Amino acid sequence: SGTLRLGIAGLGTVGVGVVKIIRREAALLTARTGTEITISAVSARTRDKDRGVSLSGYDWEDDPVRLATRDDVDVFVELMGGSDGPAKAATEAALKAGKDVVTANKAMLAVHGQALAELAEAQGRVIRYEAAVAGGIPVIKSLVEGLAGNEITRVMGVMNGTCNYILTRMEEAGLPYETVFEEANQLGYLEADPELDVGGIDAGHKLAILAAAAFGTRVNFDAIELEGIGRLTIEDIRAAGDMGYRIKLLGVARMTGRGLEQRMSPCLVPMTSPLGQLRGGTNMVVLEGKAVEQIVLRGPGAGEGPTASAVMADVCDIARGIRLPVFGQPATTLADAVPARSVTP
Ligand code: NDP
Ligand code: HSE
Repeated sequence: SGTLRLGIAGLGTVGVGVVKIIRREAALLTARTGTEITISAVSARTRDKDRGVSLSGYDWEDDPVRLATRDDVDVFVELMGGSDGPAKAATEAALKAGKDVVTANKAMLAVHGQALAELAEAQGRVIRYEAAVAGGIPVIKSLVEGLAGNEITRVMGVMNGTCNYILTRMEEAGLPYETVFEEANQLGYLEADPELDVGGIDAGHKLAILAAAAFGTRVNFDAIELEGIGRLTIEDIRAAGDMGYRIKLLGVARMTGRGLEQRMSPCLVPMTSPLGQLRGGTNMVVLEGKAVEQIVLRGPGAGEGPTASAVMADVCDIARGIRLPVFGQPATTLADAVPARSVTP
């Protein structure tokens, strides 16, 4: 038994959720991990902001890099977002200073996952990122630990709740894309840059990470064939419905004889299938392996509680001494997969 001291950078939706769990569930977390999980310091852009949770007892750092390298921080929890900038700088600084890292940042991992994994490995540290793919659904744990004995044949799923919400509303209310997009905006569902959601980029980031962990390949976001939902019309949705199908922004990754195929695009799925039944902002991930055949995971892909739940699962694993390679096997052994689309038939 001992203490695991966190430094949390980012006190938005997810960061606040994590602070709440640590304050509310302290006894339960200690009982489960045999370790007291504490927060040494926090960081965000604005210091004087009511965040709806007490931050008393935690030091404040304006600079996330300083936070990440403090002597009294064992685990740097990166919840700021953005593929580069302070998130990447502080993550690198933390690893170099000998800290483990927990992050929810799919954009950073989709772009810099390989380099960060190699840095972590060289430093003997771990990076955990359960929250980065499908929010509250423990998909990375299921894949890397639960299916460790399987050759993975395919991973697929609906991994952007906002797009699924928009498509569901268009179908149910018979409203055009533009109207529902504005509705989602009013409800605060869209990312600061909405193109990340509706352009399929956010879901593509998640698929790239999932594919690396599934196939033992280097993360290759640029190889994803990407198409968003912005051009879909109500007529497309009705025509699909008339044939017994629904349109979903579906990500599929599979290893083919021609290389690694990764697609994130609007697809027709049978209305009666689990994917076809998925309504609103929910996510679903389907994992297929040679031995297990198929498992289907469904749950909340975003939001304060669900995303913080996934972050805390990673923190608890570190507290328990579980030290997994970032993408399920040593980063230097990950293959540079040929993108299937780049091969001339
Ligand atoms: P928010 O925008 O709600 O919060 C971001 C936080 O980071 C804010 O507290 C902000 O400070 C702080 N921040 C931003 N830039 C800096 C900086 N330069 N220096 C210091 N602090 C900074 O984001 P979320 O909580 O929604 O998301 C956090 C991460 O989790 C992202 O990577 C996101 O993709 C990921 N994620 C989010 C999910 C969700 O449901 N929200 C689901 C799954 C993953 P301030 O508050 O002062 O502005
Ligand atoms: N914008 C993302 C979504 C947030 O709608 O799924 C969670 O990653």
